[in-house]
Amino acid sequence: MRVLFVCLGNICRSPTAEGVFRHKLRAAGLECRVEVDSAGTGDWHVGKAADTRTRRAAQLRGYDLSQLRGRQVSAADFQAFDLILAMDQSNLQHLKGMQPANAKAELDLFLRRYELALDEVPDPYYGGEDGFEQVLDLIEQASDGLLNEVKGRL
Ligand code: 4NP
Repeated sequence: MRVLFVCLGNICRSPTAEGVFRHKLRAAGLECRVEVDSAGTGDWHVGKAADTRTRRAAQLRGYDLSQLRGRQVSAADFQAFDLILAMDQSNLQHLKGMQPANAKAELDLFLRRYELALDEVPDPYYGGEDGFEQVLDLIEQASDGLLNEVKGRL
């Protein structure tokens, strides 16, 4: 099974989701059964490491995002992945707009799919440190939902 997380820049929210979910897969012994990746709808940070604040906040909770590099979502991703999970409505609308007719991937909002209190992961880029903690809190909770779904599908 292949899961792709998508945000705007691919330097804050979706790399966090990739790192957190991969960590949970590893803990569950499922890392080799599920492929995880992340991408941005925008191209400003292609090839760049994740945001310093994102990496630091993640590291403090035991997630190493140091190897991740930004990339932009492409039409091929709709064939390569089973599930594409957007961090906010704007990302989801962008994905729907570029979805090819023969797409294999199912598109959804990450938090809404697992019925969290919020539907969207707020963009932390222009805010303070709290925003990065909130991103982690929401993504950790939704990743538990995703892990349960994956276990049911494998
Ligand atoms: P992300 O956050 O979508 O969670 O990676 C952002 C990163 C960069 C920008 C916006 C959001 N930016 O405008 O450069």
